[in-house]
Order: sequence, then structure tokens, then C-alpha cells
Amino acid sequence: MEKITSLAKRRGFVFQSSEIYGGQNGAWDYGPMGIELKNRIAQTWWKEMTQLHDDIVGLDAAILMHPRTWEASGHVENFTDPLVDCKKCKARFRADQIPEENLAAKKCPECGGELTDTRKFNLMFKTHIGPAEDSASIIYLRPETAQGIYVNYKNIIQSNRMKIPFGIAQIGKAFRNEIVTKNFIFRTCEFEQMEMQFFVKPGTDVEWFGEWRKRRWAYYEKLGVKMDHLRWHQHGPGELAHYAKDAYDIEYLFPMGWRELEGVHNRSDYDLSRHTQYSGKDLQYIDQDNSAERYIPYIIETSAGLTRNVLMILCDAYDEEQVADKGNDDDWRTVLRFHPSLAPVTVAVLPLMKKDGLAELAQDIRRELKEDFATDYDQGGAIGRRYRRQDEAGTPFCVTIDYESKDNGSVTLRFRDSMEQVRVNRAELAVRIRKEIKEYKRTKP
Ligand code: GAP
Repeated sequence: MEKITSLAKRRGFVFQSSEIYGGQNGAWDYGPMGIELKNRIAQTWWKEMTQLHDDIVGLDAAILMHPRTWEASGHVENFTDPLVDCKKCKARFRADQIPEENLAAKKCPECGGELTDTRKFNLMFKTHIGPAEDSASIIYLRPETAQGIYVNYKNIIQSNRMKIPFGIAQIGKAFRNEIVTKNFIFRTCEFEQMEMQFFVKPGTDVEWFGEWRKRRWAYYEKLGVKMDHLRWHQHGPGELAHYAKDAYDIEYLFPMGWRELEGVHNRSDYDLSRHTQYSGKDLQYIDQDNSAERYIPYIIETSAGLTRNVLMILCDAYDEEQVADKGNDDDWRTVLRFHPSLAPVTVAVLPLMKKDGLAELAQDIRRELKEDFATDYDQGGAIGRRYRRQDEAGTPFCVTIDYESKDNGSVTLRFRDSMEQVRVNRAELAVRIRKEIKEYKRTKP
């Protein structure tokens, strides 16, 4: 994880928030490479969930919602972590994350000092809206994007003539006052979620739950991640969230071990029943194709962390490879083996020399490629070193312009993973790169 954190900073993926002031715990900034990677992951998910499904539409709801929302959702009452403090060293722990014997003996796992009693700590950030800071002005930063979907479900049925079963997808920020924020961007106080809520007829929920588990697994297969680094974890009775009838996590083998990447939940009719009760609005679905049958739909939720997916993709792509360049056995390269459709830069254009018109020709070729791909241009230093810089940033293709390019219009196309090089005519370059992206299969670990 240290290597990934350091590469992420060095290459402009992720910076500590407010670093010049010593940093802000639980918050991170996405640099030029990081925002491109995050955007591509979000776009891939969005395409998968909306464009490829006729029965799913999108939404972008506000972060600030009526405070009654969070009473109805159960978050005011139930969205808590058990907290203990050490009276001696003042360290703070989640009671469910320290060894049981320490908890039983009330002994700090770090300094051996006495621990306080366990108390419940609500994870929602609370603030005030308007000038008065009283109980009437309390407002929360949303801890999940899901509720914005539930409160809009009737609007969307009416405006878009949706029929059950159908889904609503949303990507957006969520906030949780996490007690322990470690492991880089894994668990943070400000993060992004990619959630989809699928509304189904009661009685069909178990089947849809199985179907969505299958679809979400297939999504990660398509993304080209190491499938032996993914596994399912079913929530036991003690783990189930207050809204869940059944829940499975997709876990990824991060450097610190197996951890949750995404949750697939059968939320039953909990959410819409509660919003009916708290808002006084009738949220039943009226099935016009079935004698106006009325019911509160069940909800199958797929809930993935976008920022956690960024970390997963970085960990999954990271590789160090012995390349034995120029007879030197000890030569290594760091390479990010991103799927080409996720890589922040798709093609780097490199003139072999700056002089003799090669730089101008390379700029011209880059201008052409820009229309179709995210490009970079680098003319500084030895060509081998420039390749390494692109490998470390995860750029899948480098195009090198040399004297032959001037003579016959051909260029060298170099592949990040195999480091193989082929000659391609300038006129065929964009088509060839598009084909390589479409047919990409990861061959290296
Ligand atoms: N709407 C359901 C829900 O929010 P969750 O399991 O609490 O369920 C879903 O969160 C996903 O959101 C997690 O699998 C994880 O990827 C991401 N997530 C949750 N808390 C996070 C945090 N503090 N930092 C980063 N990502 C987080």
C-alpha cells in the first residue's frame, strides 16, 4: 500500500487534502491523473447500468435532503458504530475492530491503558442550514446516495412512465464521520458511491437478488480485474444493516487483506414503507397492466464505492517487472496495467528527437489522435526513460516518431504490457488503437 500511495502522489493521482496545513484526515484530492481514472471508472459503471439496460434510468439528487428523510431511513436511530476511547493514550477505536479479550478486559490494545465503556456514535455529519443554529435548522450530509433515489421514485415513474421491474442509478458524494480512516482512500469521511436501486414486485425479490449478484460479478470480469482477487461474503445475522433482508459483499484482496468493495442488498419494502409512514404520501405502485394491483415494491440495491473502486483498480493494476533491458538483469520497471479503456492517458506521442522536424510531425500526429483518445506528449530525455514514465502512469500505447516516419509516414506503436513494437501507417493508427482497446486481454499478472 505504501508503494501505491507514493506512486499515486508522485504521478498526480491522489494528494492528501489540505496538505500544506498538515493534511485533513479522511479526505483526499484527486489530481490530474486521478480525476481521469475516477471519471473513466464512473463512465464505465454508468454505461453498464444505464446505456446497456433499457429498464434503468439515471438521477442526480441533492446531497442536502429534508432531515425527516434520515429519520425515515433509520439512519438517525441506527447508523452508529460502537466506540471506545483509551483514557491513558487517548486513542479511539471501533469496539468491533479490537480483539475481544481487550474489549472484555477494557484494556487498550496500544498502550494497555483503561478503555471507556462502549458507546454508540452516529456516523452522520450534522450541520445547520440558515443563520440559526437550533434544532429546527439541523441538516445532514447524506451518508448514502440511495435515499435520494427513494424519495424520487414516484416522480420518475410519472415523468418517465417506468414500469416495474425498473431501476434508478446514481453516482455522487456521500459523507460519514468514520472513527478510523486508514489504508489511504479505502475508508474516508468524504467519498463517492455508485448506487443502483432496482424496484421489483414482492415475491420476485429473491430471484432478482440472485440476478443482480450475477450481473455485478460479470461487470468486474468485463473490467478485466484479477478474478481470483474477488470473492463473495454473505452477511450473517449480526452483520445485516437495519434495512436488509439479505446482503452479499463483493470483497477484493487489497494489500491489507480481503475487504468490501461493493454490496448487493435485498432491502425488502423497508425504505418505501418507512417513507410512506414518515411523509404521509402513498408510495404504492399501481400496476396498470394487472387490474391496477397496488403494492409497495421491494428494492434490490447494488452499492459500490467509486473512490474505493479507484483504489481497487490501482492495486489491481500495480506491477513491478524485471525487464532485463540491454543485458542488465537488474533492470526493473513499475507498470500500471490498467485496462486501456480506464487508463488516464490512452496514447503518448514521443518524437525520437526534437530536431529535424520530428517534434513538429509528432505534434501534428498528436493533434489527430486527440479527437479520439486521451493523449500525452513527451519529448524530454532518452526514449527508454520516456517509455518507463508512461508505463508507470499506465499508458497502454506509445507512438514513436522517427526519421522513417518522415520518409514513409509509418510510426512505431509500442504496447505497455508486452513492450512489443510494431510499425503502423499513420493513416491506420487510430483504427488500430481502437481495435487494440476493444480486444484487450490482460496477459500479465
Ligand atoms: N446504500 C447502501 C450503502 O451505503 P454500504 O455498504 O454502507 O451500503 C456501500 O456502502 C459501498 O460504499 C461500500 O461497499 C464501499 O465501497 C463504499 N463505502 C462505504 N463507506 C465508505 C467510506 N467511508 N469510504 C469509502 N467508501 C465507502
